Amino acid sequence: MKAIQVGLIGIGTVGTGTFNVLQRNQEEIQRRAGRGIAITMVADLDTARAQALVGNSAQVVGDARAIIANPEIDIVVELIGGYGIAKQLVMEAIEAGKHVVTANKALLAVHGTEIFAAAHRKGVMVMFEAAVAGGIPIIKALREGLTANRIQWLAGIINGTTNFILSEMRDKGLDFDVVLKEAQRLGYAEADPTFDIEGVDAAHKATIMSAIAFGIPVQFDKAHVEGITKLGAQDIKYAEQLGYRIKLLGIAKRREKTATTPGGVELRVHPSLVPAKRLLANVEGAMNAVVVQGDAVGTTLYYGKGAGSEPTASAVVADLVDIARLVDASAQQRVPYLAFQPDAMSDLHVLPMSDVVTSYYLRLRVADEPGVLAKVTGIMAGMGISIDAVLQREGDEVVGANDAPQTDLIILTHDTREGTMNEAMAALQALPTVLAPIVRIRKEELA
Ligand SMILES: NC(=O)c1ccc[n+]([C@@H]2O[C@H](COP(=O)([O-])OP(=O)(O)OC[C@H]3O[C@@H](n4cnc5c(N)ncnc54)[C@H](OP(=O)(O)O)[C@@H]3O)[C@@H](O)[C@H]2O)c1
Repeated sequence: MKAIQVGLIGIGTVGTGTFNVLQRNQEEIQRRAGRGIAITMVADLDTARAQALVGNSAQVVGDARAIIANPEIDIVVELIGGYGIAKQLVMEAIEAGKHVVTANKALLAVHGTEIFAAAHRKGVMVMFEAAVAGGIPIIKALREGLTANRIQWLAGIINGTTNFILSEMRDKGLDFDVVLKEAQRLGYAEADPTFDIEGVDAAHKATIMSAIAFGIPVQFDKAHVEGITKLGAQDIKYAEQLGYRIKLLGIAKRREKTATTPGGVELRVHPSLVPAKRLLANVEGAMNAVVVQGDAVGTTLYYGKGAGSEPTASAVVADLVDIARLVDASAQQRVPYLAFQPDAMSDLHVLPMSDVVTSYYLRLRVADEPGVLAKVTGIMAGMGISIDAVLQREGDEVVGANDAPQTDLIILTHDTREGTMNEAMAALQALPTVLAPIVRIRKEELA
């Protein structure tokens, strides 16, 4: 059978890995796919560099539209990134009847609904294993391996840059800014790290996973997104003393309706205290991991490299093999883009953050005087917030202005509605004995 023809757009980090993995393992890949997979065209802005990389094995062009216009090309692989030209090229490729493989989580999290609808109309496949957690086959696991399950929740460390920074902050007791500079020097963080450190990249990936787990549309605009820039070394240290580690988690959780809270899906990215004994708490450095809880299977964990040239290429090539196997099947026989048939999507809505229910770590810098603790716990009890533990920590720098003694009061709560917690925090902050902005970090037991 003739090799399936692939046009690669963007031969940067992932593009180069894809090209090399396909070349190196072509014989084995062909035995798996049932036919050859050949990159016959490559488009990149830097044609000289692209030519040097691919030699004479593929035609190199500067204009990606030459790939889309070529009737011989069966699959377009988009590895440019971003929502601009990448979106135009993906939509044009679909309109031209090409199957598409992309690693572009930003594009899918924001424009996925439009892209999948266009692909459905044209009867082409859009595959995106590399868009979430790089080399970890989490999309395939959610879409196919766990298909028997009603997924209850998933939680993941899905951004290597922030996990590297948090690991270094904890190991070395350093502040965020210092570790960020080190991460940039070592190549773990980009020159402009905003998308990573503000949680946007993790939210793109959590959004895509939420859609597949619950059969809802991709709705990045409804995700709660909070990064790690405001985390202090002190809270990482206190968390450690309490038996927790702080991780940036992407969480998608099904919430059943109760008498006091509406049902729906929680979709959120924020720093979280995770019990140190959980496997997820021990995922260190730039590694990624996702925990998925299904009603039949129980808890499952997926761990590996979430980025890098060949780990990400591993996922891109797996998508190419899937397409090569399914290309002659009718559209109805293929696995749906978001795991659920397009006409059987759920109307579960994404809950506003005020309706999210979780437990909390609060740190209050308070005047060290009698009655403060009673006042604080009294306010919380009055709002129905159940306290799990209270600790007073004689911190490192607890003497305030005029040598007035201060102390850190740390409170762990049981599950509380976020809206209620917001009200309680406003009331606590207004106390004259609360001397600094209250630190609030959400806590996930992941049990
Ligand atoms: N890097 C990772 O580890 C990783 C992991 C998972 C997912 N991803 C995703 O994979 C995608 C690619 O990432 P990457 O790290 O490989 O990016 P990259 O190294 O910056 O590569 C992008 C390539 O696309 C080229 N390009 C830009 N505009 C183009 C256009 N209009 N036509 C043709 N080529 C164009 C760039 O050329 P110039 O350099 O000349 O501008 C560059 O060679 C992104 O969506 C990213 O989010 C990356």
